[in-house]
Amino acid sequence: MAIPTETVYGLAANALNEKAVLSIFEAKNRPFFDPLIIHVASIESAQKYATFTDERLLNLAKTFWPGPLTILLPKKDIIPGLVTSGLERVAVRVPDHALTLSLLEKTGVPLAAPSANPFGYVSPTEPSHVNKQLGDKISYILDGGACTVGIESTIIGVEENTLCIYRLGGLEIDAIEKIVGKVELRINNSSDPKAPGQLKSHYAPRKPVLLGNAEKLVSQNEGKRIGILCFGEEKISGKNIRSFNLSRNKSMKEAAINLFKFLREADESDIDLLIAEELPEQGLGKAINDRLRRAAS
Ligand code: TXA
Ligand code: MG
Repeated sequence: MAIPTETVYGLAANALNEKAVLSIFEAKNRPFFDPLIIHVASIESAQKYATFTDERLLNLAKTFWPGPLTILLPKKDIIPGLVTSGLERVAVRVPDHALTLSLLEKTGVPLAAPSANPFGYVSPTEPSHVNKQLGDKISYILDGGACTVGIESTIIGVEENTLCIYRLGGLEIDAIEKIVGKVELRINNSSDPKAPGQLKSHYAPRKPVLLGNAEKLVSQNEGKRIGILCFGEEKISGKNIRSFNLSRNKSMKEAAINLFKFLREADESDIDLLIAEELPEQGLGKAINDRLRRAAS
């Protein structure tokens, strides 16, 4: 079934049941080498499935859970290798959504859940997004409304005592560093299949996405129907131009909520291509730019 979270909708199954977990990979067409995040209701529950070997990670969990932070922790034997693609660590988070938290509490099982989209495509931030693409493959969508963060969780772990960020996401780096000090970015930009969520081309709509100076790109594509993903003022207009304004008053939070929705709308519209400019590299802007680069890759 699909479940709402504050970041994006997840496609969930009992993480302790291999057969159920297998059906997630099938529905998403996801390769088995791409591990899943398990969702739990609390830190206590997380400790049944993984070990907080590093005090700083426990501190982060205490500070930011429930919330858009996923923590990589040494897994306990009860978690099937299928969930972690055979890796020693399991990704864990407590999602900040009342419906899903109550589901987790009532069932008492951890839910393995990747984003509820076909592999490689844009993550769903509304139940209708899930229904359109996976509706005929899954039995339920728990309707929790539109996601309030709109971009996937930030992923953190520790390697040889260094705190590493593996995916930029809904929790800003600054907020993390205020609690545990400097972290290192280990964002994978290669096509290394060991870190597929960080594949260079991911979160990609079907329509071409061009990232750069919008005015220049528009003039290079004269005669085409162009969508422009903008932030703040709409500098370019015209007969063949359609604007998707991430946030008129330049709110990063609003831009994150709108990003995936607009990428989907652009795909469904009659535009030939989508042109986007990077946002300022601050706060959530870093994660938004990361997704834009991958969408354009
Ligand atoms: O916000 C989110 O994190 C959403 C919601 C549903 O919780 N989930 C999500 O899951 O984005 P998914 O599967 O689309 O992305 C999770 C990423 C994957 O790209 C995977 O590579 C990485 O997390 N990951 C999961 N387990 C891992 C592990 N044990 N070691 C390293 N990376 C892992
Ligand atoms: Mg995903």
